[in-house]
Amino acid sequence: MSDSIRFILNGEDITLSSLRPTETLLDFLRLQRRLTGTKEGCAEGDCGACTVLVGRLIDGGLYYESVNACIRFVGSLHATHVVTVEHLAAQNGTLHPVQQAMVDCHGSQCGFCTPGFIMSLYGLWLSTEKPSRAQIEKSLQGNLCRCTGYEPIVKAAEQVSQKRPSALFDPLEKTRADIIARLWAMQGGDTIEIAEGADRLIVPGSVAALAQVLADEPKATVVAGSTDVGLWVTKQMRRLNPVVFINHLTDLQRISVEDDGLSIGAGVTYSRAFAVIAEKIPAFANLINRIGGEQVRNMGTIGGNIANGSPIGDTPPPLIALGATVKLRSTAGTRSLPLEDFFIEYGKQDRHPGEFVEGIFVPYPASDAHFAVYKISKRRDEDISAACGAFHLSLDTAGNVQDIRIAFGGMAGTPKRARSVEAELIGKPWTEATVTAARDAFDSDYTPLSDWRASAEYRQLTAKNLLIRFYLETAGAPQELKRFATAEA
Ligand SMILES: Cc1cc2nc3c(=O)[nH]c(=O)nc-3n(C[C@H](O)[C@H](O)[C@H](O)COP(=O)(O)OP(=O)(O)OC[C@H]3O[C@@H](n4cnc5c(N)ncnc54)[C@H](O)[C@@H]3O)c2cc1C
Ligand code: FES
Ligand code: FES
Repeated sequence: MSDSIRFILNGEDITLSSLRPTETLLDFLRLQRRLTGTKEGCAEGDCGACTVLVGRLIDGGLYYESVNACIRFVGSLHATHVVTVEHLAAQNGTLHPVQQAMVDCHGSQCGFCTPGFIMSLYGLWLSTEKPSRAQIEKSLQGNLCRCTGYEPIVKAAEQVSQKRPSALFDPLEKTRADIIARLWAMQGGDTIEIAEGADRLIVPGSVAALAQVLADEPKATVVAGSTDVGLWVTKQMRRLNPVVFINHLTDLQRISVEDDGLSIGAGVTYSRAFAVIAEKIPAFANLINRIGGEQVRNMGTIGGNIANGSPIGDTPPPLIALGATVKLRSTAGTRSLPLEDFFIEYGKQDRHPGEFVEGIFVPYPASDAHFAVYKISKRRDEDISAACGAFHLSLDTAGNVQDIRIAFGGMAGTPKRARSVEAELIGKPWTEATVTAARDAFDSDYTPLSDWRASAEYRQLTAKNLLIRFYLETAGAPQELKRFATAEA
């Protein structure tokens, strides 16, 4: 057992044996270290003003990713390297090429968002030698600027990648070997526990230790990426105690490509899952690129998206449509169940006291099946779904519906299958007449709510029209049906 969190901040080793479980990295940087280059805009992961890089060892390599310091807890930083904007310029004041490009391209006006943009662009600069326009835009999805209109910032990113200076100029490239050695020395299998008054934070040394901690403390708050839990603290001012951090547990971060599907550990972040999912289930990967911004995808996990039980989480609908199973673990052992059965009702999941999500298994769509996911939100990027629907269809050789699984988020108190619609379709020819007749069965499956994202009527009509859209995409697009879909969309 250890009693301190250790990490590197820019060049300095930090050891903390006194720490509130929900101390955010942003408060730590600004209030305790006076590193005020990192700004607070929204305190909810949306604006990117607080962006810093966090480096960690993965399979022996050191990887830096942009994160939102406002919703990242210090307790989750053990054995990492935190890099803030103050670390970029040389000691003689010479700006880093990324900073200089922002100056040259007039990428800053009032300047409030600028450190956050710099850190996102720096993360891209470190990971991608010649980024495409799409890669640049993706890296900036989680940064908002109200002054520049973005074009000068994108130009700065293009400029710096064209005239890429020697890696020797870069503070992180120069110190890479040293940082790796220091992070190695900080790692270890010990469980860390810090008590601050009555509050406790626990960093289990292994998955078995996590199971034991939760057996002893079944009401503890598990924190993976903190992209949900962070907001409970910064927006709802909730006091959480004890808090158990799991984002460092490498045994929860494995993805295995199996013959019939993907096995994804609960601690795998969206960014880390992306490449494998893009190769195996491309339609699902397109959805992942629309979850939050880059910083949120670098922290958030699919395990957290399931465990939070939210009716508007984006990954459960496609996972349910694909027939995914969730694996739960406790000191009593492990059990697997179909993901759709995990969600019992709003706020209630089939999770026994002391259990945690260990991983999910996602079967591949059959090679002759059709699979599609549609996210409907007010903005394309960085927005929560009003509704998210997934369709998984198999046809027999005669063109009849052999099997179809349809699941929606945003339409009920849980992510849920549209069983009445499915029943209307199965065994019938996959035709315009069949889907048109089946669409009203959504009224039996769902009674959505009206809220500020969408009205109940909008959601219900959206679900019906998405069925039509799925039909059009899978069966060609007869003119008649095209008009019908457009008129109501
Ligand atoms: C700016 C922003 C944009 C977002 N955009 C989207 C979006 O587009 N679509 C979307 O679906 N979500 C979105 N989210 C929500 C969030 O990113 C996701 O729900 C994410 O998957 C949560 O994962 P996490 O690892 O951060 O979970 P955490 O916040 O760490 O935890 C979430 C919940 O799950 C529990 N938990 C986590 N892991 C486990 C485990 N292994 N076992 C048991 N319990 C566990 C926690 O106790 C908590 O109750 C957004 C969030 C932010 C801040
Ligand atoms: S302050 Fe806006 S994302 Fe952190
Ligand atoms: S320069 Fe003013 S918000 Fe971006």
